[in-house]
Amino acid sequence: NGKVLILGIETSCDETAAAVVADGYEILSNVVSSQVEIHRCFGGVVPEVASRRHLEMLNPVIDLALKEAGVSFDDLDAVAVTQGPGLLGSLLVGLMAAKSLAFALKLPLIAVHHIKAHVYANFLAYPRVEFPFVALVVSGGHTDLIYATSHSDFRLIGRTKDDAAGEAFDKVARFLGLEYPGGPAIERKARQGDPAAFPLPHLQRTGEDFDTSFSGLKTAVIYRWRQAQEKGEKVRVEDVAASFQATVVEILQEKAFAAVRAFKVPTLLLAGGVAANGHLRARFTTRAQEEGINLLIPPPALCTDNAAMVAAAAYYQFLRGDFAPLTISAEAGLPL
Ligand code: KG4
Ligand code: ZN
Repeated sequence: NGKVLILGIETSCDETAAAVVADGYEILSNVVSSQVEIHRCFGGVVPEVASRRHLEMLNPVIDLALKEAGVSFDDLDAVAVTQGPGLLGSLLVGLMAAKSLAFALKLPLIAVHHIKAHVYANFLAYPRVEFPFVALVVSGGHTDLIYATSHSDFRLIGRTKDDAAGEAFDKVARFLGLEYPGGPAIERKARQGDPAAFPLPHLQRTGEDFDTSFSGLKTAVIYRWRQAQEKGEKVRVEDVAASFQATVVEILQEKAFAAVRAFKVPTLLLAGGVAANGHLRARFTTRAQEEGINLLIPPPALCTDNAAMVAAAAYYQFLRGDFAPLTISAEAGLPL
């Protein structure tokens, strides 16, 4: 039908995902097989287990993505895959599958950067995203601020100096005895909590840069908790969760809106698993209205890892002929 059909594959962490996207925005299918239940008993992702599970699940997930899209391999125009960053053993499974398909079907292979893919979830949700913009990608491994002027010009302007935002959620949740993944668990507890009942310091230097730091905040939670216990004060997990969540969102907001001002862009994009957080979405929405900024946030299901965002990012690489040779390797620390 003249549309560009791209099969996207994503295996960078603990979700085995495949999707078919037409013309970079129309999701024909978006299959995500989560390993959360498998890793929960370990309190976090176990790389070897993740890799083996990808191997078992990827073929059925790809088959299902084609079936749900109502297309066959012959209808595809390209195969796109996350090359990095991520867990090496996990990335390799997706990359090998994509290379094999591209080779057998004589299709171009498109290597996608995982963080860039997160940003492109916005292009699925809002077909008319305009450059330039600042994007805040908050995931389990990254807290990246990006300044983008075109599809081929994404510049990293800020990152975390230590823990990523999602990582901080996961670590604090673990300390509080909540289940993995920590972000959704903390969000649920926080709904019944009062942030003022467990005050936390900000610890963020309001300097020129757009870098963030969350390990100090994590330590503060643990320190304050122990202090309260020594004094025999009663601390509610709900209040700790609410205060921690509010502080993280406050820090992210300060940095993101400072970047929007500094780069004089009209639009701010959010992306990544932590952008699924309801409190974060509400606070950013209010602030954007106050400041007259156009704020875009994908629906929660497109914030967390998926392959539709990979296919969406790949579409613009397809248009400019940015194809990868079959000799590429997975890169755990792939730079933007
Ligand atoms: O983007 P993502 O699915 O995978 C990575 O690329 O890392 O992000 C996963 C991270 C985890 O740390 C998880 O705890 C966090 O996103 N997360 C949340 C929420 N949902 C997922 N954090 C806060 N609130 C949520 N609702
Ligand atoms: Zn991710």
